[in-house]
Amino acid sequence: MKYSFAAAALVATVAADKRDLCADGSQDIGGNWYCQAVEAITYTGMSGAGSYNKVTNMGADGSCSTAPHAYSGSMCPLDEELSMHFRGPIQLKSVAVYAPQSGSKARRSAHASKHAHHHAHGHNHKERAVGDMVTATIDGQVVSWVNQYAGPATPAAAPVAAAAAPPAGSASSASSSASSKAVYVPSYTGPGWARTAYYNSSSHTAQGLVFLNNMGGAGSGVWDTTWGNSLSYASSDGTQCASQAEVLNDCEVPSGNEFSIFSDKPCSDGSCGYSRPGTVAHHGFGGANKAFFFEFEMPHDYAATGQNADMPAVWLLNAQIPRTAQYASCSCWSSGCGELDLFEVLSPGDDRCKSTLHSNIAGGDSDYFQRPVNQTMKAAVVFNGENIHIKKLDDSYTFGTHMDTATINSISQSTSTQNQLTSLFSLIGAAGDSHA
Ligand SMILES: *[C@@H]1O[C@H](CO)[C@@H](O)[C@H](O)[C@H]1NC(C)=O
Ligand SMILES: *[C@@H]1O[C@H](CO)[C@@H](O)[C@H](O)[C@H]1NC(C)=O
Repeated sequence: MKYSFAAAALVATVAADKRDLCADGSQDIGGNWYCQAVEAITYTGMSGAGSYNKVTNMGADGSCSTAPHAYSGSMCPLDEELSMHFRGPIQLKSVAVYAPQSGSKARRSAHASKHAHHHAHGHNHKERAVGDMVTATIDGQVVSWVNQYAGPATPAAAPVAAAAAPPAGSASSASSSASSKAVYVPSYTGPGWARTAYYNSSSHTAQGLVFLNNMGGAGSGVWDTTWGNSLSYASSDGTQCASQAEVLNDCEVPSGNEFSIFSDKPCSDGSCGYSRPGTVAHHGFGGANKAFFFEFEMPHDYAATGQNADMPAVWLLNAQIPRTAQYASCSCWSSGCGELDLFEVLSPGDDRCKSTLHSNIAGGDSDYFQRPVNQTMKAAVVFNGENIHIKKLDDSYTFGTHMDTATINSISQSTSTQNQLTSLFSLIGAAGDSHA
């Protein structure tokens, strides 16, 4: 399987044989490029059309059958159900998932001029320049390439609305519409966003979600020599397989361990599509508009050896990936069904967390969040219209049962109105990938 960036926008060829986000610690990290610490990263232009290959059968003989699945529209394919993934060392304090309450209506408005203003004043924000190195982890390999995309013209002219959408039917969304600078900020009217899942470690509360890991076969899930461990329920310390759902303790999950969060709704209703036989299978969190709030700390544990030593991460996957094979080559990952790395440390002991998108469009931002090594950090990831906003929050935020419209919109608008250091990563003309 080959994962290659075919678009003219980028010069890169990435060969990868296996889906393995957590490759061993022997990655070549020499090519990593970091620009500056930011407090928000926004992906704009999340729309288009394409297809990926859904797994239809995982044979005991190692055969993997798939069928093409077409999609189109805002946020696709990340509008599908997503699961949250965590790698130690991490202390997860709280998580909340929100979705617009029924009755909410998205009204799209363009705020390109504000963004242009932001640039025109030479705010301390660096758009990636041609010649900069771009780094991403793809199939467990840290890869870098030279950016060839000059970015949108500055300052922006009038917002270009529909032009932002790539042509339907094209999986490669790289168009060179350099003028599509508009940052769309949908304004919601209606009752706001409701919390659909919640975890709070200090009160040991888990509502609407379950903690899983990839340790199937020792109490829940399955293990076999062909596909390895399936998903399983995670023990309350996050490091073992449990026979049923347990609430994660208020504890640090050390290096070399991963766990995930799915909704508490099992796939037994048949509506998840194909999952590996015998795996623990739960629904993820779906919808084009949704928000994930996190509170976590990523302390150093200075693990000297082992896989992913002292390399914590928080990321999202299309939930089909772990329900089939997160770490074997039979999932929709390689055909672009979607992964969004939110806060990923790419080299052992490093203090910088990067974000990368692996989807129908792929790309990563060279700016980074400061790793919260000795205090917790609160952050929001808001899928809103055609933008994804990853934003550090003030410590005063609480993750209540309701997020009002003003709060969601202020997080979404911060890219163009606040002084917060923000990195804007436009997927329009920035990157595309093809799946040969
Ligand atoms: C947290 O760690 C950073 C970097 O290691 C250090 O500069 C800072 O003083 C520490 N803060 C506290 C409160 O210990
Ligand atoms: C977690 O629960 C405690 C009370 O037990 C509360 O003070 C805190 O604000 C909650 N955290 C979040 C992020 O809502």
